[in-house]
Amino acid sequence: MRYCSLSELAPGMTLGHPIYAFNGDLLLAAGQALDDYFIARLSRLGFPGAYIEEAGFESVEPQQILDGALRASTEVLLSDCFEKLADANLSEDLNTSLDLSLDNHPELTKALPLGKIRTQVNQIVQDVLDQFQTQLPCLLLKSQSRYQVQHGMDTMIVSILLGVNFRFLYRELRQLALAAMLHDIGKSFLIGPGEDNISPDHPRYKEHPQAGGLLLLAGSDDAYIECAAIQQHHERQDGNGFPLGLKGEGKLPQQGRAYHPGSIYRLAEIIAVADAYDVLTSGAYGQPLSPEAALINLIQRNGTEFNPHVLKMLARVIQIFPVGCQIRIINESSKNWHQYRGIVTKINQNNPHRVEMILSHDNRGDRIPARPLSLQGDENARLELVL
Ligand SMILES: [Fe+2]
Ligand SMILES: [Fe+2]
Repeated sequence: MRYCSLSELAPGMTLGHPIYAFNGDLLLAAGQALDDYFIARLSRLGFPGAYIEEAGFESVEPQQILDGALRASTEVLLSDCFEKLADANLSEDLNTSLDLSLDNHPELTKALPLGKIRTQVNQIVQDVLDQFQTQLPCLLLKSQSRYQVQHGMDTMIVSILLGVNFRFLYRELRQLALAAMLHDIGKSFLIGPGEDNISPDHPRYKEHPQAGGLLLLAGSDDAYIECAAIQQHHERQDGNGFPLGLKGEGKLPQQGRAYHPGSIYRLAEIIAVADAYDVLTSGAYGQPLSPEAALINLIQRNGTEFNPHVLKMLARVIQIFPVGCQIRIINESSKNWHQYRGIVTKINQNNPHRVEMILSHDNRGDRIPARPLSLQGDENARLELVL
């Protein structure tokens, strides 16, 4: 299988992965032959590309972080929550205290079907654990759901993987996952009709962490952990975050770390990093960055904004060139393959550039017969992602 951007898709290609519609229905099954109609449909629905089956690339099996059907049904649930809350149209009423406003709107206690959401999130955590997933393929297959839904899902996936690598217990992984998925649910009050996101310049932007946390508490009396994580996801290590200006202690976010009042709750430190990574790679506020560029951007903000232990773990969790992605060779020792393109078949844990691959295109961009190439031992290997 190899990943093709939308512009590369052509009639006659065979789809490698199933694609699900926004309502969770199967749109295209794996093995489906593409034609102009399907390609136009994918484009209209906003899919950036798809994995296709192709001779020479049969052995390439990209890592799937989440079963497509499970992702689709979770997105439907999350989207319903955003819609229901946006329809409640409370932004006008929220000019006093949020607490008061929730008291005045008892219907909000039922706005988040927390039981259902927990069941779904637990299934996702179980799936990741069952498959021994510890790393994130950078090509998360995006669906056509609205931005806030994708952002919640992808922030949750990155958070779970960070938690798994910090050896969190199952119970705590579930709390982390739930809080990460719903971390921006408080924005639902502020997003206007027909809009999908709000700018950080929005006059009430800084209210969304508290609104989200209170919403969770309104619907459940056993969500204090998740509420704290949501309310603190914009706090910064140097104390310049919001809403409370809490400070980080720069300690490992391990289970058992004592909580000190006035410091940032450790689950919130994980969500803060996962959130910022997804914002940068999804291009929510500008051009999307490659996973490598996003990581560098976050590292530059190390110490002031993010817990350094969490950032270090993110660098271990992200696969910059995962199996199945298309790459261009910028440098290698033999100098025979500069600017050739190919598909990654095996990653290298120690140096992401030293992959094994199958070459597919020459330096003029012309198709060549599939040819394996190993850069495992090449200390000069340098690649770039082709999206
Ligand atoms: Fe946020
Ligand atoms: Fe966010």
